[in-house]
Amino acid sequence: MATTKTLEDLFLDTLKDIYFAEKQILKALPKMARAAQSEEGKAGFLQHRDETQGQIERLEQVFELIGKPARGKTCEAIQGILAEGDEIIEEYKGSVALDAGLISSAQAVEHYEIARYGTLIAWANQLGLTDAVALLEATLAEEKATDQKLTQLAEAQANPKGKGTKAA
Ligand SMILES: [Fe+2]
Ligand SMILES: [Fe+2]
Repeated sequence: MATTKTLEDLFLDTLKDIYFAEKQILKALPKMARAAQSEEGKAGFLQHRDETQGQIERLEQVFELIGKPARGKTCEAIQGILAEGDEIIEEYKGSVALDAGLISSAQAVEHYEIARYGTLIAWANQLGLTDAVALLEATLAEEKATDQKLTQLAEAQANPKGKGTKAA
């Protein structure tokens, strides 16, 4: 039983979860950039890699604001999403549908992040952590912009290309 736990504990645990997740994502993005067939896809993944570096630094600032050491906590959800991405890279290598598949796993990552940051912002607001809210909102805006760019890339290029000539 954990009857003494509060929203502050939830906030710290979730901060650790996304800190771990961002670090895993930082490692995965160059791999996705190498795998992507289109130049736009490669460039997009590399740009988001740089943004992710900045997001990790923002999280470290949030830890500092609440006076806690920046420490990650294993996030099985992101490990699962990234493992599925690896599976797509392996199973679709050399196929016309590879980029469509890569974009789909990148969007699963973004949606996980958007869910986490949305919650963290709501809790930071509730806890009166105004400076943390600003930092988390800056990152949420980047995650949402990335998600939208991925949708555009899928619709304009990767999905039509992925359809190939097999469909009658
Ligand atoms: Fe991120
Ligand atoms: Fe992201």
